[in-house]
Amino acid sequence: MEILDLRHFSSADLRPLLEDEVAMWGRLLSWDYSTSAEMILRYMDAKILPGYAAIERGSIFGYSFFVYEQSKGVIGDLFVRDSAGDPARGSGRHEVEERLLTHVIETLQQSPGIHRVEAQLLTHHTGEVSQPFLQQGFSRHPRVFMNFEIGKHPQTAPPLPPQFEIRGWSEQEYQAAAALITAAYRGHVDSEINDQYRTLTGSLRFLNNIVRFPGCGTFDPQASFVVVDRRTRMLIGLILCSLVRPDVGHITQVCVLPEYRSAGLGEAMLAASTRNLRGRGFHFISLTVTEANDRAIALYKRIGFESTRVFDAFVWEG
Ligand SMILES: CC(C)(COP(=O)(O)OP(=O)(O)OC[C@H]1O[C@@H](n2cnc3c(N)ncnc32)[C@H](O)[C@@H]1OP(=O)(O)O)[C@@H](O)C(=O)NCCC(=O)NCCS
Repeated sequence: MEILDLRHFSSADLRPLLEDEVAMWGRLLSWDYSTSAEMILRYMDAKILPGYAAIERGSIFGYSFFVYEQSKGVIGDLFVRDSAGDPARGSGRHEVEERLLTHVIETLQQSPGIHRVEAQLLTHHTGEVSQPFLQQGFSRHPRVFMNFEIGKHPQTAPPLPPQFEIRGWSEQEYQAAAALITAAYRGHVDSEINDQYRTLTGSLRFLNNIVRFPGCGTFDPQASFVVVDRRTRMLIGLILCSLVRPDVGHITQVCVLPEYRSAGLGEAMLAASTRNLRGRGFHFISLTVTEANDRAIALYKRIGFESTRVFDAFVWEG
């Protein structure tokens, strides 16, 4: 088994492995990963995707890639085929995953100008591949993948207090939404995991990624809403939804300004997205939440979301 630079290969070399990965995302997370896979293949052919491939008898059976975002490196993915290697020779799947990660981590930590590395490995169970990260000084934040089965729950929407108005997402909200995200995540554990939340420019970049790029599903403006305080006209709450499968919506963001919390706005926004998706015949809604975010988890569970997996987010600051 060899580990080689991903840029030596073309999309034709990686395609069979990505087909297996698309099947795995569908099975584990009810998530159609094919749009992301196509994007990865386009980047491969442009020779601009940094990462490593695990090769045996000339073919790729595992890979990991990363992207640079200014002074940050983000590990985009890690996938090794289930039947990888020969455990008897000590090159089982787990060992290959760790070797790929070690290469990626070393490359990023040694890249000039890179002061931060982030990774979220949704398809790996918590602790499963933590060794290479912890050895290199990363911190680990367990996160929960939750699922809501729309047909199992009747629509119960508590009325919104009259001083608030809920309305559909529109592109005009961009600046105000970025300001809201920055304020909502000040001092929050999620801004340890994703440093974009810490600044207005970062929050705008986050929004741009969610709304304009297909990396985390396809943005769905119809199931995305904002809440406005009628008195001040200020944006005080936000829920964003993307489609990750034709019948599955994924909440990519939900937040409320600190001074407006515990008044039912979070629940009202989740109900609005659910009502919209239900009306369009969707079956499931998923989301991810940091395990330490007790209040958010309590709210999701009360509504009917169920935990399906726990995975890890890793962060390193040099
Ligand atoms: C998670 C979050 C969106 C919840 O929003 P919220 O508007 O406070 O949510 P709700 O008011 O609907 O429900 C939350 C709480 O209010 C209570 N509540 C609901 N309706 C209420 C009412 N009419 N009066 C008083 N309390 C009420 C709920 O029982 C719940 O109890 P808790 O305060 O013990 O947790 C908000 O806390 C937030 O923005 N957090 C920071 C960002 C974040 O963590 N987002 C989630 C990332 S996955």
